[in-house]
Amino acid sequence: MSQTIPQGLPTARDAGPFDPPSEITRLRETRPVSPMAFPDGHQGWLVTGYEEVRQLMADTRFSSRGDIDVLHEPYENSGMPMPTEPSPTPPGLFIAMDPPDHTRLRRKLIGAFTVKRMKMLEERIAEIVQRQLDEMARLTPPVDLVKEFALPVPSLVICELLGVPYADRETFQGSSAQFLVRDQTLEEKMAAYGAMTGYLAQLVVGKRAEPGEDILSDLARDEDLSIEELVGIGFLLLLAGHETTANMLALGTFALLEHPDQLAALRADPELMPDAVEELLRYLSVGDIFYRYASEDLELGGETIPQGSTVVVSLLAANRDPRRFDNPDALDLRRQGRGHLPFGHGIHQCLGQQLARIEMRAGFKGLLQRFPGLKLAVPADEVKLRTNMQIYGVHGLPVGW
Ligand code: HEM
Repeated sequence: MSQTIPQGLPTARDAGPFDPPSEITRLRETRPVSPMAFPDGHQGWLVTGYEEVRQLMADTRFSSRGDIDVLHEPYENSGMPMPTEPSPTPPGLFIAMDPPDHTRLRRKLIGAFTVKRMKMLEERIAEIVQRQLDEMARLTPPVDLVKEFALPVPSLVICELLGVPYADRETFQGSSAQFLVRDQTLEEKMAAYGAMTGYLAQLVVGKRAEPGEDILSDLARDEDLSIEELVGIGFLLLLAGHETTANMLALGTFALLEHPDQLAALRADPELMPDAVEELLRYLSVGDIFYRYASEDLELGGETIPQGSTVVVSLLAANRDPRRFDNPDALDLRRQGRGHLPFGHGIHQCLGQQLARIEMRAGFKGLLQRFPGLKLAVPADEVKLRTNMQIYGVHGLPVGW
């Protein structure tokens, strides 16, 4: 069995730009909860089966304090020693906290992200989409869809919601992109984190003194939250709020262009959009890899995961599990594949999922309407894939129309 244990997390997209690495698929078929050796020899676990991933994410004994996705991820493939204890979570980063700390902070945000609040934003988001499309249409193709559309739309939306001046985007887009690079030293990652938190600290101090009409101001009015916590929350929302959706828009467009029959079906039937977005979320699962830490010896999928183990979860693998979805590797916009896990599961399930859905529906709708002849401007195999980043997608997508 030992030669089948992966050495480090497989990331190369050898099966195609939209499919899980073949080693991940093989593991899901043979051992959905599998030991995995980190480059330093430290043994962790890799969970790839749908049921197993779902069960793990519902169980907080798999602690999120080990969600090294947030700060310590560079250990993953860098050859640096894996920590056997999770390091303390910086204040405010509740994605990497367990109850009761997680509960206390997440509760403060529930009201800001209700389905109703997000519905009220629909019109504003459609406006932002149209304005960005106007700007893009003025350019001479080929243009980079990431730069001109996929990244600006969610960035503008989250900036407006949080009360972050969009004019400052160079600061936070650059540092959040750097923060998400996989194989870099902890120093490099912390420098990117420091650049963003330095910027946010100034911003939230200003909001505490003089709050406005935005989510960060509402939080700043709450004296129960320290400045450091406000900074951490701001960091999490700003990062999660633009990188994920941006990559869904760009990689989703790439996937549609590579599946012309599906694209034609969507163009022919705009009512299909909500289901199409769910299927793209499942099929692409751009937020793929997450981390947990076994706080005690735990049984999962017939294996015993010893206390202290780092557990790596692949949501993409789970969302492509043939035991859960028929013909899982097909992009089928009419699938209605309920129960998919692109937003995770359990207490950390994505806080921004309704917002992300509204942005994607408006984004794809606007893009397809505005450019009936949208096409790739380079051969598909020349599109640069984000295999080196924690959120998957494309670095750029040259398109014409
Ligand atoms: C298509 C876009 C998105 C995807 C695929 C996505 C995916 C995810 C996933 C898988 C998790 C769970 C992480 C875990 O269990 O460790 C998560 C959590 C989170 N997401 Fe998203 N997300 C998206 C958009 C957004 C947006 C727009 C926001 C903006 C507000 C956001 C904010 C968050 C936050 C704050 C958490 C942490 C929740 C918690 O720990 O309780 N996400 N997201």
